[in-house]
Amino acid sequence: MSRKPITTKADPDTTGHSWDGIQEFNNPLPRWWLYTFYICIIWALGYTVLYPAWPLLTGATPGILGASTRADVAAEIQRFADANGPIEAKLVATDLTAIAADPELETFAQNAGAAVFGTWCAQCHGSGAEGNKGYPSLLDNDWLWGGTIEDIHTTITHGIRNTTDADARYSQMPAFGKDELLDKDQIAAVVQHVRQISGQEFDAGLAATGAQVFADNCVACHGEDGKGMREQGAPNLTDKIWLYGGDVATLTETVTNARFGVMPAWTGRLSEAEIRAVASYVHSRGGGE
Ligand code: HEC
Ligand code: HEC
Repeated sequence: MSRKPITTKADPDTTGHSWDGIQEFNNPLPRWWLYTFYICIIWALGYTVLYPAWPLLTGATPGILGASTRADVAAEIQRFADANGPIEAKLVATDLTAIAADPELETFAQNAGAAVFGTWCAQCHGSGAEGNKGYPSLLDNDWLWGGTIEDIHTTITHGIRNTTDADARYSQMPAFGKDELLDKDQIAAVVQHVRQISGQEFDAGLAATGAQVFADNCVACHGEDGKGMREQGAPNLTDKIWLYGGDVATLTETVTNARFGVMPAWTGRLSEAEIRAVASYVHSRGGGE
């Protein structure tokens, strides 16, 4: 309002600076701007007194209102924990095989289990539990270690071939080629035998020799008929479900160097209620027994 037209002044007020003959007017700041600026300063001072603001060596000034977003989150988590507490306790107390019979427990286990699965299991087993190479699909009824809810619960609790849990499921297929238990010809032969029992194209001559190699070296774990053995976590080689692959190159690689699939133990990392929930979830996905 008090601003005067800058060009009509006879002797304009300048800052006295001159750059190549260009001078700077010394006009007052607009009032609205100045007052807004003062209000901002007052507001900011008030804010730093009321809320956490100034950095200190460890942390920051807390502010007299005691506001803390971290505490808000903790309270929110606690609210859910309190709400779920009774049903989680019931889940832990109920016999694993009886969970499915209780509709309320079953619904809770499915929802909680899906959340646990998405957070902790999907990286390896796929977001829909469909599996990846080396990571079994949990949707079919082809189980390495067993498909009852107790089996699944044990697998999840202790994991497989890890070094952290003494009760982890364990077995080790020998590296027949690398450790020179079988020569190249024997491996080529047994691979053709596996092709034969899995219903794929095979070389009849090699497969006949391979059957003997199989009987001598593989049945202890994969069984006489190649249908696998759960105590060993040894897969069924006669179905068309492959953990690593059924083509000649992959079979040769498996028999030569062996595989050693590792799954972490979840006890300690997940609560018993979470393990039971995700076990129920996995059990109900597809081929739970
Ligand atoms: C780091 C990767 C990894 C993560 C994470 C993982 N798994 Fe596994 N899981 C494996 C591997 C590898 C195997 C197969 C091991 C083998 O060859 O025996 C397996 C096997 C299993 C089996 C046994 C399947 C059968 O046929 O017997 C179940 C059940 C299972 N996982 C459930 C889970 C659940 C539930 C979670 C999440 C809490 C999970 N896994 C997280 C790697 C993982
Ligand atoms: C000590 C037990 C043991 C013996 C002996 C054994 N295996 Fe295995 N085999 C396993 C286990 C356990 C697996 C699961 C893979 C892993 O280690 O993660 C497996 C996996 C395989 C696979 C991969 C299957 C897939 O779905 O991709 C093939 C193929 C196989 N074995 C063939 C053989 C042949 C052929 C022999 C004999 C020359 C043999 N195995 C001997 C335990 C054994």
